[in-house]
Amino acid sequence: MDFKRFRYLVLVGILYLGITISFNNCTRGSGTAPSSESTHQPVEGLDAVNYFRESVPSTFCGQDGYGYLLRSYLGPECGSCHSMNGGTFPPFGDNDLSKAYSYGRTMGKAKFLELSTNNRFCGPDCNLDTRGEIYQALNQWFDHTDSCN
Ligand code: HEC
Repeated sequence: MDFKRFRYLVLVGILYLGITISFNNCTRGSGTAPSSESTHQPVEGLDAVNYFRESVPSTFCGQDGYGYLLRSYLGPECGSCHSMNGGTFPPFGDNDLSKAYSYGRTMGKAKFLELSTNNRFCGPDCNLDTRGEIYQALNQWFDHTDSCN
């Protein structure tokens, strides 16, 4: 009898925990655009290259948005070649933001996203996971390259 009751209590406890956890996941980020949710929920187990090195806004757009991508990813991972001194065109990874941005905004989205996930020049450590923060932000930025409107 007592054992049955105990089992029941444990079951209820597990159910309660499950509900609490799933609710937490759903409500986090509610009230904001779906795009901000994806950029702000880090996926566990991804390489450090997939994460920003600073706190970031919920929307990536225009020159400011490009700056976050430049400082955390495009500069460190691509800038050694794709910069004014690096000698590879286009210099979208230059550490002068306005220069880098002026080239960055002329790049084709599909090609660029492909080369950030599967790039033979920068080695396996620079390739982004499509579930990661940086990839999601890059993807979003390409739909708002000119301004934040
Ligand atoms: C070791 C040097 C090096 C690094 C690091 C590097 N690239 Fe490149 N990249 C090149 C060279 C060389 C070319 C031109 C030859 C080619 O396209 O195969 C190029 C070409 C490109 C192009 C133009 C392709 C086209 O079709 O016009 C893009 C876009 C690009 N790279 C993106 C990236 C991105 C994104 C990164 C960082 C994740 C990166 N590259 C890192 C050397 C590099």
